[in-house]
Amino acid sequence: MNPLKHVAIIMDGNGRWGLKYKNSRNSGHKAGLNTVEKIIKETIKNKINFLTLFAFSTENWKRPKKEVNYLFNLLENFLINRIEDLHKQNIKLKILGSKKFSSKLNKLLNNAEKKTSKNTKLQINLALNYGSKSELINAFKKIKKNKNNINEKNLSKNLQTKNIPDPDLLIRTGNTKRLSNFLLWQLAYSEIFFEKKLWPSFNEKDYNKIITEYKNIKRNFGKI
Ligand code: FPP
Repeated sequence: MNPLKHVAIIMDGNGRWGLKYKNSRNSGHKAGLNTVEKIIKETIKNKINFLTLFAFSTENWKRPKKEVNYLFNLLENFLINRIEDLHKQNIKLKILGSKKFSSKLNKLLNNAEKKTSKNTKLQINLALNYGSKSELINAFKKIKKNKNNINEKNLSKNLQTKNIPDPDLLIRTGNTKRLSNFLLWQLAYSEIFFEKKLWPSFNEKDYNKIITEYKNIKRNFGKI
């Protein structure tokens, strides 16, 4: 059975779910947050140490302002209402991406990271305003002074995911098969599962089915 330390998820399909069932994309995002809560609980039950969630890409700024504002409001309320409980559950929150948000949201994010920084049960990496290509460019810029420094170990150390093991498993919901500029370096050897269900419809049973399937895969990392 394969060990499972790190699950990464592209939570796709909120907008389509919202339009289909509630006539608004934003209600899909609200429902998507309920799925986030369910999946966090299930991740703990499965004793997985790292969960990385793609919540907002650098490309998502191109969406209508009303939708972007709604998403950030949802996140602000999540941080205000849920951080104490996450902290009590020994969960550490880390933000991947560049924090170029309102000063209120930046402060909430910084406080949440600081408050939970010593927690050890589960680390949740929330990718916000995150893009993998720019993360890689920044890493190369940091190590460019000495070209002998350009090797796999050093590059990994200069990514925002430094000290985080690469994901063993990537799940993308929403019936779309692409990586969307998410953890391009880190996913080199991950097992990838594309799930037809839209994120708000994804549930514990679906998650556990994927985990069981993953655990039974023969992973050879290029060997035979
Ligand atoms: C992709 O669905 C989802 C997002 C861009 C936002 C993800 C946000 C959440 C799950 C809720 C907020 C989470 C936190 C932690 C506060 P989409 O809108 O691109 O779906 P579509 O492909 O149907 O348009």
